[in-house]
Amino acid sequence: MPKVLARILDGSAIAAQIKQEVAEEVKRLAAQGVRPGLAAVLVGHVPASEIYVKSKVQTCRELGLYSDLLTPPDTVTTEDMLDVVRGLNDRDDIDGILVQLPLPRQVETKVLLDAVLPDKDVDGFHPVNAGRLQAGRPALAPCTPAGIIEILKRSDLPIAGQHAVVVGRSDIVGKPMAMLLLHENATVTICHSKTRDLGAVTREADILVAAIGRPGFVTPEMVKPGATIVDVGINRISTREEFDRYFAGNAKRLAGFEKRGSTIVGDVHPAAYELAGAYTPVPGGVGPLTIAMLMSNTVRAAKMRRGL
Ligand code: GUN
Repeated sequence: MPKVLARILDGSAIAAQIKQEVAEEVKRLAAQGVRPGLAAVLVGHVPASEIYVKSKVQTCRELGLYSDLLTPPDTVTTEDMLDVVRGLNDRDDIDGILVQLPLPRQVETKVLLDAVLPDKDVDGFHPVNAGRLQAGRPALAPCTPAGIIEILKRSDLPIAGQHAVVVGRSDIVGKPMAMLLLHENATVTICHSKTRDLGAVTREADILVAAIGRPGFVTPEMVKPGATIVDVGINRISTREEFDRYFAGNAKRLAGFEKRGSTIVGDVHPAAYELAGAYTPVPGGVGPLTIAMLMSNTVRAAKMRRGL
């Protein structure tokens, strides 16, 4: 039987399109004297967080949003952080507040996230927004799952009536992903580490979302041929043994791996992509959408706060 090549879902192109739309909306708002503003709080020196936040602030600049970067030291206390967040809640030039995670151990993350004004919670992490989302009310939804819906819709992939299987039940991706898919009329199953015969469940998926945080966790025998695979994982691997497990024979990847000493693998084993009808690659699939949706959420928050 001739092999049909899986369609690669280009997250970078879709993110570029969304950012373009956001930039146009920012221009329209400027004509009304409104400039959406995002405050990013980056604690200490976590290298990955520094890269993400830099990229978020840079994207604000590119799209014409106002941004403010706050950088408390890694010795900061929960009380200090509460003061920072409350200050941002009160500022009229700030529409969106982003507290980059993870926070140092001594800071109580949930206490802090609960202190962000729900209407400025552009990450969609506040329980009020989780509740609004599940109740089907207008809500700021977490950026990564919201971006995945955009990928599916803008790629003309059907959601309604499809069996969507979400592997992973985090508050940031898995749970809100399931809720957004349900609102799009998918039949949704949530799986996790305790799911019995996980492969039997994932093989039923028309849309398979992998958000477990374990490299190459979804293997070919777990995939129904022709399924849409959405790979949320970003796992850095740095040994040659790991490299060969996922990318043996991939000369282009090997060149990058040897140059940088590491590469990124998703939660889906690359061999499983070959069975898919369509899939999001890593990198360049889901990742770029997270920042695009953060910008979109900030503009939305700015408009909601002004009743526009
Ligand atoms: N850390 C990793 N991903 C995210 C995210 O989407 N938002 C925040 N605030 N922190 C993160």
